[in-house]
Amino acid sequence: MDLNNRTVLVTGAGVRLGQAIAVSLGQQGMNVALHYHQSLEGAKETLGLIGGDFKQHGCFQADLRQVSEIELLILQIEAQLGQIDVLINNAADFFPTPLGEVSESEWDHLISLNLKAPFFLSQLVGTAMLKRGQGKIVNIVDVAAERPWPQFLPYCASKAGLVTLTKGLAKALAPAVQVNAVAPGTMLPPPESSSFSHDLAIERSLLKKMGQPDDIAKAVTYFLENDFVTGTVLPVDGGRMLAS
Ligand SMILES: NC(=O)c1ccc[n+]([C@@H]2O[C@H](COP(=O)([O-])OP(=O)(O)OC[C@H]3O[C@@H](n4cnc5c(N)ncnc54)[C@H](OP(=O)(O)O)[C@@H]3O)[C@@H](O)[C@H]2O)c1
Repeated sequence: MDLNNRTVLVTGAGVRLGQAIAVSLGQQGMNVALHYHQSLEGAKETLGLIGGDFKQHGCFQADLRQVSEIELLILQIEAQLGQIDVLINNAADFFPTPLGEVSESEWDHLISLNLKAPFFLSQLVGTAMLKRGQGKIVNIVDVAAERPWPQFLPYCASKAGLVTLTKGLAKALAPAVQVNAVAPGTMLPPPESSSFSHDLAIERSLLKKMGQPDDIAKAVTYFLENDFVTGTVLPVDGGRMLAS
């Protein structure tokens, strides 16, 4: 796909990996719908980092746990930027949920945001792409979908579900729409995490370094530019999966 002047929706585009993906795609000539939940300032910062003509892009707020907000989000984007050619399901939450202490609301929150939202976004946007005969969806998953961490089971289950969704959507939306996933290893640990877990992530990788947000952005671009790959999961993890 020629990225120039295509419209992409990046969820969670105000911070960290989502910001890096949005900036990279915007700088490659795409019109970017920057979704945010609470990080309005972050979304505006993303807009500034993309630079160029601000009219090509827009910031859109939604709590993606609610299907009604997803429906409104898509209507607002289409009204301002036109049809969505590319969907990047990036927004997700991540926090420890030790077995024996997980509440129903924690489970519902993680599954709603990390799995239900990408499904309903893909259903809405993907079926429209199918009718038009072209489109791309990239889901940001996690190597933990394959190698679950016992202290984070609801998160890991949500990402494993998203891997299955990636493969199922690739079938359901073929041949017009390609659906793939990028599985980051530890790139940016949560700000509150210790330097010990940072060092451990490096130690457990084959390449003995942390990945950078731009490594994920480049993997996303690969999927958008390649028209013969669908239903795949690309680990971008410094060899962590192989090492563990
Ligand atoms: N960071 C890593 O090392 C790493 C490793 C493996 C996989 N991943 C995956 O990569 C993706 C990005 O990770 P990250 O660390 O950059 O994410 P992050 O910093 O934890 O950001 C979470 C994003 O989710 C959005 N969000 C939170 N609650 C929401 C809600 N109710 N409705 C809509 N959006 C909501 C946030 O939006 P606001 O800020 O606007 O509220 C934010 O953009 C995620 O899918 C994550 O699972 C990350």
